[in-house]
Amino acid sequence: MQFAKRLEKIPPYLFAEINRKQNELVSQGVDIINMGVGDPDKPTPVHILQVMHEAIDDASNHNYPPYQGTQEFREAVAKWMERRFGVMGLNPNTEIISSVGSKEAIHNTFLAFVEAGDYTLIPDPGYPVYRTSTIFAGGEFFTMPLKAENDFLPDLSAIPEEVAQKAKLLWINYPNNPTGAIANLEFFTELVAFCKQYNILLCHDHAYSEMAYDGYKPPSVLQVPGGKDIAIEFHSLSKSYNMTGWRIGFVAGNATGIKGLTQVKSNIDSGVFKAIQKAAIAAYSSTNEAEPQAVMAVYQKRRDIIVQGLRSLGWPIQPPKATLYVWVPVPPGYSSAEFVTLLLDKCGIIVPPGHGYGAAGEGFFRIALTIADERLQAGIQRLKDAGIRYTMG
Ligand SMILES: Cc1ncc(COP(=O)(O)O)c(C=O)c1O
Repeated sequence: MQFAKRLEKIPPYLFAEINRKQNELVSQGVDIINMGVGDPDKPTPVHILQVMHEAIDDASNHNYPPYQGTQEFREAVAKWMERRFGVMGLNPNTEIISSVGSKEAIHNTFLAFVEAGDYTLIPDPGYPVYRTSTIFAGGEFFTMPLKAENDFLPDLSAIPEEVAQKAKLLWINYPNNPTGAIANLEFFTELVAFCKQYNILLCHDHAYSEMAYDGYKPPSVLQVPGGKDIAIEFHSLSKSYNMTGWRIGFVAGNATGIKGLTQVKSNIDSGVFKAIQKAAIAAYSSTNEAEPQAVMAVYQKRRDIIVQGLRSLGWPIQPPKATLYVWVPVPPGYSSAEFVTLLLDKCGIIVPPGHGYGAAGEGFFRIALTIADERLQAGIQRLKDAGIRYTMG
């Protein structure tokens, strides 16, 4: 049996070698601290679970859902976009669609808009799906490096004219995985103007829209006047409500973008289980601020443990304002691969190397704040015990 040629073009799985080593060390009895996985360790809030329990018993939820999501779900989303971002008047029938988590919708957007000869503009480092889905769609990606000196924002002036002319999609993701960086409305306004100039669909992956600290509220690209003319935004309940396993999100914005995505999706999936949509409506309709604040308080404490711990070992880092991640430079003299191997061998700590998210991620590694405080503290202690500091020998 032969795989399709397109599979040969997909880069090797980032964690494959790390997993192999982890299994080897675990079989030797090593206590591994895995700081690699961006999957919340806390349960879904109780009021969402209660709605799900009831919805699952209701036979009217058991048949095929509408492709674009139930009317009730899309209306709840439109209201949430108004309340949360001040984005008024999204049309639930043409400007909003439900998705099976955001990963699915991200991938299918490439299938809807990209073909051979087209470019996609994608961040580097970035969520690996932008890259692999460009390949699946038969297009070429042009990477936009996110550099510390530019606050991890792409430099639009570095995109060659001929690439911009052939580009169909431009992807951004703020708050950003893996760098933890944020973007303001002024930058979004520049992006909207750039994409309008070249007629590129601006795709904002907003998977971490609610994952912010110290009172910061990440903006929506649809807040930019005229943003909806050229942009769609991908939202997800995965991280905000500890619902990664439920697989639900939505896409909102430009009607042509939503139409293309709907056409692909209606041929590929059959929507999200209606009971899950009911649970998501409960999440988006809740005005109880205490709940998301409680979710973020957990991560904030962990962020502070990691940032203070690394600073005490000489690391020059600032606490991120958002996401579940801390993007950490490797000590001078090490590559990302060398340093994460050292952490695994000397400390039994697993972290993904920066270059796993793209070549411009070289020189960094990522810590996910998704394990218990004590494990993060134990990790810092292991670094101390092993004599690992930012400025080593
Ligand atoms: C930047 C980014 N986008 C999208 C996703 C996909 O999330 P989901 O499909 O669970 O909504 C993730 C998950 O880690 C992510 O980091």
